[in-house]
Amino acid sequence: MSETILELNDLHTHFFTDDGEVPAVDGVSFKVNKGEIVGVVGESGCGKSVTSLSVMQLVPSPPGRIVGGEINFKGENIAQASEKRMRQIRGNEIAMIFQEPMTSLDPLYTIGNQLIEGIRMHEKVSKKEARNRAVEMLNLVGIPRATEVVDEYPHQLSGGMRQRVMIAMAMACDPEMLIADEPTTALDVTIQAQILDLMRDLNKQKDTGILLITHDLGVVAEMCDRVVVMYAGQVVEQGTVREILKDPKHPYTKGLIRSLPNLHQKEQKLYSIPGTVPKLSMEQVGCRFAPRCEFAFDRCFQEDPVLYEADDGRLSRCFLYDDNEEQEVAAHVESDIRS
Ligand SMILES: Nc1ncnc2c1ncn2[C@@H]1O[C@H](COP(=O)(O)OP(=O)(O)O)[C@@H](O)[C@H]1O
Ligand code: SF4
Ligand SMILES: [Mg+2]
Repeated sequence: MSETILELNDLHTHFFTDDGEVPAVDGVSFKVNKGEIVGVVGESGCGKSVTSLSVMQLVPSPPGRIVGGEINFKGENIAQASEKRMRQIRGNEIAMIFQEPMTSLDPLYTIGNQLIEGIRMHEKVSKKEARNRAVEMLNLVGIPRATEVVDEYPHQLSGGMRQRVMIAMAMACDPEMLIADEPTTALDVTIQAQILDLMRDLNKQKDTGILLITHDLGVVAEMCDRVVVMYAGQVVEQGTVREILKDPKHPYTKGLIRSLPNLHQKEQKLYSIPGTVPKLSMEQVGCRFAPRCEFAFDRCFQEDPVLYEADDGRLSRCFLYDDNEEQEVAAHVESDIRS
């Protein structure tokens, strides 16, 4: 058995807004093992970022707050850890890279100063040695003219270069866990591939566990060992990349896969799931996907589905996998989707 680094257990993070209480993360459980890359996928607004921000205790508060559940990091529940403890963890034991690196790079300090600060927090080295290490790391993440860039400010670099700097900073800290929230969404395809390669290197060389948050199943297919599919604040299913891509259980996952251009070239027009992610509220009843689901039936609008076990033991938050429903319905649905 591999060692579990991060385990979310029935995590609930809510926002208390003028419009009422919003259950943005509503009972999320999954884990990341050492050396594993786990993808969290789902459309925009499904609660992916709030989940990752919860782990770092960076949910804007107010209005947000972790209201229940556990976040076990190497066996320590950090869901309610002190700010002092979180400061040790952030960027040190768990590194995080965001879609827009400007939010995590300090505009007032040179790249070198920010890197050197990180390096010296972890290693007893002189300023000069730390600077050399910084240049070395910038080289390592493929930054040209590293000896000059080290003295430049974040705004002087392109988005792709800034993201490389973020990865260099993450590497400098030698974290056990890296959380990357849409790290390549703002970048063009070539740069995206290079950044993903760097993350993969980090994972391979240091056995870093990576939680990769993305709305892009293509990125997941390329990078991840396992996938967690989120919809409207909940996990609807999870599995290995192969299981999820070849044999999705939940109608939402099926829809996401059908919307992937390269996997379903035979479809002439690119499919997209009708409708949008619902606004979350505490009052909602029924399956959250029901208004968009082509298989919805009466029960879906009246009761909340839990995770039901499919034939092969995988779990899906869908009544089609409840043994009390006609198994044939599920079988029918499967063949329907594949044809
Ligand atoms: N600052 C906030 N104030 C109120 N609600 C928020 C805030 N941030 C996020 N939310 C709620 O959480 C939901 C999930 O957001 P988020 O995790 O950012 O989605 P994703 O990353 O999957 O696109 C949003 O749809 C919104 O309802
Ligand atoms: S529970 Fe019903 S509405 Fe929800 S995904 Fe399953 S079939 Fe669709
Ligand atoms: Mg997000």
